[in-house]
Amino acid sequence: MLTKLFIETWGCQMNEYDSQKMADLLAKSHKLQQINDPMQADVLLLNTCSIREKAQEKVFSLLGRWKDLKESRPHVIIGVGGCVASQEGDQIFKRAPFVDFVFGPQTLQHLPLYVNQVLAGVKHQVNIDFLPDEKFDNLPDPRAEGPTCFVTIQEGCSKYCKYCIVPFTRGQEVNRSFNDIIAEIHELAQQGVREVTLLGQNVNAYQGQTPTGEPADLASLIFYVSHIPGIDRIRFTTSHPVEFSDTLVDAYAHVPQLVSHLHLPVQSGSDRTLQAMGRGHTIASYIEKIQDLKKIRPDLTLTSDFIVAYPGETEEDFQETLKLVDLLEFDQSFSFIYSPRPGTLAAGLPCDLTLEEKKNRLNRLQEKLAHFALKTQNNMLNKSFSVLITGPSKMGNTFVGRTENNRVVHVVGAHQKLVGCFVDVLITEVMPNSLKGRFLRLNDPYLEQRSFLNDLNGVVDEQRSEEYKYGVEC
Ligand code: SAH
Ligand code: SF4
Ligand code: F3S
Repeated sequence: MLTKLFIETWGCQMNEYDSQKMADLLAKSHKLQQINDPMQADVLLLNTCSIREKAQEKVFSLLGRWKDLKESRPHVIIGVGGCVASQEGDQIFKRAPFVDFVFGPQTLQHLPLYVNQVLAGVKHQVNIDFLPDEKFDNLPDPRAEGPTCFVTIQEGCSKYCKYCIVPFTRGQEVNRSFNDIIAEIHELAQQGVREVTLLGQNVNAYQGQTPTGEPADLASLIFYVSHIPGIDRIRFTTSHPVEFSDTLVDAYAHVPQLVSHLHLPVQSGSDRTLQAMGRGHTIASYIEKIQDLKKIRPDLTLTSDFIVAYPGETEEDFQETLKLVDLLEFDQSFSFIYSPRPGTLAAGLPCDLTLEEKKNRLNRLQEKLAHFALKTQNNMLNKSFSVLITGPSKMGNTFVGRTENNRVVHVVGAHQKLVGCFVDVLITEVMPNSLKGRFLRLNDPYLEQRSFLNDLNGVVDEQRSEEYKYGVEC
């Protein structure tokens, strides 16, 4: 009898989204309950990432542990999904014959079938086809888990940056239907979602059709989403500098729900390196785009992804990256040492740097990035920000939420009833990975129009008296 499901998820937010869908599918088909302890689970799924070599290596060491688990509880079913599964296919069984099935990011909709087949005695099933339409047509109804959610708007990537495995593991770019996306977000909003992140590897390449048959891009999708009652924050990730159209820039002027925070990967500050990577844009055009956005949203915070020690990157090229960081003052960003991925165009390129030299570049970049992230954080001190309260904090007696620029804030003086509400918070302390702040007031026009605000009145009045007690002025 199968009752419990454990899912280990690595990689990007698309994998997070997929894992939630996997749990929903098996809850519906086999009534499996998701748990956090692999030792107790009857079905174990590993949703993998192959963006860098390390991520790939981790797969077989975790599977080794799951092998022991299966030896002590032989009825356990093990499935491997995600990007390593997509890349390796049945090769996974060579190193891990105890795995029951392997499935790709676009064939997860058949999970109930794979499980049934295992129960019927079928061994070593593999399905790593690229079937995005089939995937989205066969997923259960969306389910909100709190006030924020991700919604995939496209699958795959057709950019083929020379270092990147994604086009091979997730397939070519395919867009989800506009109407389906809007319907999913409507449904989620009715379940209490207030903030949505539109997901894809290259979301600004999105193309669809509005309900009236007009061609739609990411900007029109954002515009429609902003009209869904309850959705008061819209994010998107990841976008690419090349297709960052004027209509998208314009959306920042006309859609207040679109956050003043943008994650726009640049990878390098050197035109020579960008060209070698096949990114298709220059640094000048990147800077110009950001300047256009800052004219509309002077408070825009910018985060990015960087790769150091790409084959052929000289010290001068690297210096250009540092210069770009100084110029644009990127906030909390991701940076990686280049990792050759089999099958990509860059895989065979020679690199004459030692590991020490590569690490040295990464450290220098990360120090600079940390400096600017801290600067952004320090600038927030003693100011008031809108925070979406997402739940109780582990720090005891406080609640946790996020600002528009994606900072986690532990809010003193909030209340359970404020979960899912936008509130103004005075930032009182900067901590290494988060901020601390004090609840000032509810600031949520959507809730103010709704009758259940009555529920909040007592709470808010109580909080207001706290506000006067502290003598906070904002
Ligand atoms: N679609 C997004 C990012 C996808 S992958 C974009 O185009 O920007 C997330 C990040 O992983 C990339 O932005 C890049 O910085 C990093 N990355 C991808 N392939 C890599 C590789 N082979 N080695 C090191 N980092 C890599
Ligand atoms: Fe990879 Fe480039 Fe596509 Fe991003 S745009 S997923 S880096 S190929
Ligand atoms: Fe990793 Fe695949 Fe996402 S390679 S980053 S899980 S698209």
